[in-house]
Amino acid sequence: MKTMPPVARRTEYIKPFYVMDLLAKARALEAQGRSVIHMEIGEPDFITPEPIIQAGQAALAAGRTHYTPSLGLPELRQAIADWYAKRYGVSVDAARIIITPGSSGALQLTMSALINPGEGVLMADPGYPCNRHFVRLVEGVPLSIPVGPGTAYQLNAELVEQAWTPKTKAVMVASPSNPTGTLLDIEELGRIGAIAGERGGALIVDEIYHGLTYEDQAQTALSVCDDAFIINSFSKFFGMTGWRLGWLVAPEPYVDALDRLAQNIFLAAPTLSQHAALAAFSEASLAILEERRQEFARRRNYLLAALRELGFVFAVEPQGAFYLYADCSALTDDSFRFAEELLEQAGVAVTPGLDFGANQPERHVRFAYTTDLNNLQEGVDRIRAFLDRR
Ligand SMILES: Cc1ncc(COP(=O)(O)O)c(C=O)c1O
Repeated sequence: MKTMPPVARRTEYIKPFYVMDLLAKARALEAQGRSVIHMEIGEPDFITPEPIIQAGQAALAAGRTHYTPSLGLPELRQAIADWYAKRYGVSVDAARIIITPGSSGALQLTMSALINPGEGVLMADPGYPCNRHFVRLVEGVPLSIPVGPGTAYQLNAELVEQAWTPKTKAVMVASPSNPTGTLLDIEELGRIGAIAGERGGALIVDEIYHGLTYEDQAQTALSVCDDAFIINSFSKFFGMTGWRLGWLVAPEPYVDALDRLAQNIFLAAPTLSQHAALAAFSEASLAILEERRQEFARRRNYLLAALRELGFVFAVEPQGAFYLYADCSALTDDSFRFAEELLEQAGVAVTPGLDFGANQPERHVRFAYTTDLNNLQEGVDRIRAFLDRR
């Protein structure tokens, strides 16, 4: 009798997003004619700015359908280097910039180039769930450090110093963070980089939500730690999630290994997307993106105040991304059930804390303001009515 080989053990560690179940339920409700307000979606509701779409269409019309070099289109790598100079006043050699299929590709490359089996990567909990999985995929050990409002839900030098062991290879942070939207102070980031450096480890900084900050503009970690691995993407600020395009800024000595990994893992990032992204830094695109940033700011301000009135607690004001990570412990002791009931009884979808780690997930839910103000207002009305009925 024929038997199939078992699925590889490493897949046991790769968890699904719980919110996907919720999303499936939301879709089923919508198919029955129920209306659902989506506050769980982690991508901008806006479509890609028109100048970028036009550049993509022009590239397609011109037959630009072949592979690019594995490290990416030289013009795009240079355009990103110019962006660092213009936006942050930081000089980066384009030779250190690697174009990847989304920042997901950059994360996979970074872990593959840095982490040996058994080596640890420090990261904040709550945090972006895929990070643990990228570490697992290369047989490394994700070392989650619980963080809370006391450190704005971010790691700091003290926490990193305490947690570092001889087996630790890297520390990874995201600023602004998903799910909390909080920034890591740039001086503190410099101190974390220094600790990693003193111990022969690396600092990995996910800057994917740069551009989406509502008070101060975020500064790149490169300004305080030139040998950090910087992860970024065209997905969020540039509104290009479906184009699958991101980048990595790596220290020069790693570029050769990263090039070989890129050649073998994905060969090159999508060609059309790279041509389209050349238009992302144009004045016309940046003007559209600035309007959208202001719209996100209006949504954030509205939703933060409205949710506070309903009894959700935000001990730290999120400064960026498009998320609000709410302490809902005054309203429920089981955020997962709360999210399910909110969907079924009120038609509002949010992400339960469980998706972001093991640090008090039962007391948290994440709201995404990736839907317009009318929808957010309707969502808040529904949540209010739901809470009143309980
Ligand atoms: C913190 C963070 N990093 C990376 C990613 C991956 O995004 P992409 O592969 O679209 O660049 C996401 C997506 O939600 C994210 O929230």
